[in-house]
Amino acid sequence: MKFPDGFLWGGATAANQFEGAWDVDGKGPSCMDMATNGNHHTPRQITPELDPNRLYPCHDGVDFYHHYKEDIALLAEMGFKCFRFSINWPRIYPTGFEDEPNEAGLEFYDRVFDELERYGIEPLVTLSHYEMPFAIARRQNGWASRGTIDLYVKYATTVMRRYRGRCRKWLTFNEINAGMMPIGMYMSLGILTGDPDLRHQPDNPQQRYQALHHQFVASALAVKAGHEIDLENKMGCMIAYMLAYPLTPNPADVELARERNQYRNYYCSDVQVRGEYPYFARRMWDEEGVEIDMAPGDLEILKQGTVDFYTHSYYQSQCASTDASQETSGNLLGGAKNPYLKETAWEWPIDPAGLRIMLNQVYERYQIPIMVVENGLGCRDEVGPDGAIEDDYRIEYLREHIKAMGEAIVDGVEVWGYTPWGCIDLVSNADGEMAKRYGFVYVDKHDDGTGTMARSRKKSFAWYQKVIESNGEVL
Ligand code: BG6
Repeated sequence: MKFPDGFLWGGATAANQFEGAWDVDGKGPSCMDMATNGNHHTPRQITPELDPNRLYPCHDGVDFYHHYKEDIALLAEMGFKCFRFSINWPRIYPTGFEDEPNEAGLEFYDRVFDELERYGIEPLVTLSHYEMPFAIARRQNGWASRGTIDLYVKYATTVMRRYRGRCRKWLTFNEINAGMMPIGMYMSLGILTGDPDLRHQPDNPQQRYQALHHQFVASALAVKAGHEIDLENKMGCMIAYMLAYPLTPNPADVELARERNQYRNYYCSDVQVRGEYPYFARRMWDEEGVEIDMAPGDLEILKQGTVDFYTHSYYQSQCASTDASQETSGNLLGGAKNPYLKETAWEWPIDPAGLRIMLNQVYERYQIPIMVVENGLGCRDEVGPDGAIEDDYRIEYLREHIKAMGEAIVDGVEVWGYTPWGCIDLVSNADGEMAKRYGFVYVDKHDDGTGTMARSRKKSFAWYQKVIESNGEVL
């Protein structure tokens, strides 16, 4: 298997799960700083007031804030060509409402860019990865308010100006289609429903679609600003790709799978890539009784702010079944169990072939470059008595997904790069736990808050180093 020259091998992180230092050097709290820990069976709780008796895993993360030099050196040792990370919005504007940015926050990312430049690693920056300043959620229900567009554009232009020439690839919102799911109501849209259960927020379709509209306008304005600030900037969208198969050839199941794919995967990206709402949007809004309030000029802004490339996460697929008894509850996405696939301990079906399928689907639709910016196996790692971590299961997972991505490239899909998730262990997002690890680098941090934060190389570290060195030939 031959990957294109210049293929961007790397890894991905997000500030809220990685940086820690949640209240250091003037940083304000983000939405996820107000979410407690949880696990696969116990959802994280949103606490609008911090509870001194609860643990908030994002507060410490794995302390990239104080380990960035060591961490970037480890990425360089693996041969990383690209590092995807997010800038922590409330590190720059602590509440979101300030007129002037927090200089100490900006200086932290100056230092991160310095280190990346030192090793020749290209940054890929997510402007918003579930890190809205909590004050925006509290004061105006986050993206439900149109006023949040200006706050976001102010922040996005501040950082794109500051790091002009140092970063040329930007993603406007992480997994913007998370706003289509119950877990996204607070985490992605910043809407405080009053229900503390992070995963199962009560739905309010009118508010949800309106908030998404505000995000689309904000994304388009950021794309325009990015191009104006630096003609060489490439601006991208980021979608959580939730591939749905029909459970049976029953046309009713096939239809349900079609609808899920459209609704979950393409509603948002059609707006961001094509600059207009998809043809099927009207029916969706009508069926949910939604009327979107659009300001004059919004549709024009969407047209002018289309992205240059498409990026996505891919972890699993699911089956659509019209037989309600087939629905499983354990999985984040819902759906029926696929009898052909094994699952992780967190009940995420492992489906490498689905990556090739979805890459072809997306390329067929948009014909623009794609980057796989999240993929990986979240699981427990055991540290042996000699400190070794033999994570062959992770190597196996990644190898099969890289092969599938390689096949898609041979199919003719233009893929720019691959940045698997949590290249250094970090706090898991949906469950807020450390036990679910993704990294090539182990971090000594545990769910009870203990740990030295020491970093060590897992077996997969040397494996990925060879993959990169051979440009994907040695898997
Ligand atoms: C993606 C998010 O949905 O999945 C990441 O962009 C997240 O923030 C990743 O960490 C894996 O999910 P989890 O819940 O296992 O951390």
